[in-house]
Amino acid sequence: MDRYAHVTGWGIATPERILSNEELTQFVDTSDEWIISRTGIEQRYIAGPGETTASLASQAACRALEPTNIEAHDLDLIILATSTPEHIFPSTASLVQDEIGAIRAGAFDLSAACTGFIYALNMAAQAIRTGSIENALVIGSETLSRYVNWDDRSTCILFGDGAGAFVLQASDKPGGILSCIMRSDGSGADLLSLPAGGSKLPASHETVDRKQHTIQMKGREVFRFATRVMASATREAVEEAGLQLEDIQLIIPHQANKRIIESAARGLRMPMDRFILNVNRYGNTSTASIPLAFFEAMDDGRIHDGDHLVLVGFGAGLTWGALAMQWIEPVEKPTRRIQRRRRWIRWYSRIRSFIRRVLRKIEGLIWGAKSHSRKDSNE
Ligand code: ACO
Repeated sequence: MDRYAHVTGWGIATPERILSNEELTQFVDTSDEWIISRTGIEQRYIAGPGETTASLASQAACRALEPTNIEAHDLDLIILATSTPEHIFPSTASLVQDEIGAIRAGAFDLSAACTGFIYALNMAAQAIRTGSIENALVIGSETLSRYVNWDDRSTCILFGDGAGAFVLQASDKPGGILSCIMRSDGSGADLLSLPAGGSKLPASHETVDRKQHTIQMKGREVFRFATRVMASATREAVEEAGLQLEDIQLIIPHQANKRIIESAARGLRMPMDRFILNVNRYGNTSTASIPLAFFEAMDDGRIHDGDHLVLVGFGAGLTWGALAMQWIEPVEKPTRRIQRRRRWIRWYSRIRSFIRRVLRKIEGLIWGAKSHSRKDSNE
């Protein structure tokens, strides 16, 4: 029997603080008029001290599980796409796995910049379709504001923080993720990067002084690249799904710049009302932007049972990709039992995680004591 991978749950999380263009003008040499006319951005969310890539991701994940008939224990795989992980290692996905109590799930981060969510969805869908897993959680989560150079007016106005998550489940019902194309061109690696902090340029006084831990971008070149690939990637994904552009009800593009999305619409000869546009409220949230836009489209009743959608993105790498899917209204709803269990699972997982940490400490003490006594007896 054929297996399909369907999105059955979706959720988002945003930081509390909103930074408007007007507020930005108080410490950056820019204007509300310039930002809106060049990018379409009016405001963005900025993470506060207690808000991190993992905490936003965990919130979005729990919300994404809510409409489904499964709980965190049932997840087999967590893929977290991010450009702003909490650490180089451990993966932010593992932190989320622990936080939400997904005790049976494998977890890893995926780095493909703003295209990451599309890559991650495709990886999870492939794993479901091959029969190796049943349920996956795909998250895009970012705290880009922590890597922004607030003295660089050409980049600091663009980025915002947030998270979005999808639950994917196996089904024998046709539809769900239909096709995906993933592309990369590393010759453009220098166009958009965060140069220091990796193994090539580890943190030093010099890297800090040179602000090499902040986002560096050649905006015009990235703009040209983005306008080129958005339309072509969409066409390829649609063709690979055996569809025509006319069959697509809605395009959910990466929200980097309103003008890039308008240019893609022109390239595809499609009216703007078939594109979701919410960059005005969130700015560029990288991997979180597509699930944030999907969530709003859902909330506004713009996605209907049987609709064909294209998710399309581009980003550093350079990377780009597009994914065609057919939205099928999930029939399985959460039972009362699952709703009740979900509440205590989060408590249970916190207690479990705490006990495991304590046991690991005790184990360390015992082993430490044993190896000391062995050393003493050898002497
Ligand atoms: N306020 C006022 N003036 C500004 C600002 C600002 N915030 N930023 C730049 N300017 C000035 C520049 O100094 C320049 O002045 P000059 O002509 O005197 O030198 C002028 O505005 C024009 O600058 P451009 O860079 O040519 O402006 P452009 O129209 O290209 O817009 C922008 C800049 C918005 C960055 C655009 O190039 C863009 O959106 N590029 C794509 C960026 C993007 O999508 N990046 C994310 C990729 S996804 C990922 O992986 C994270």
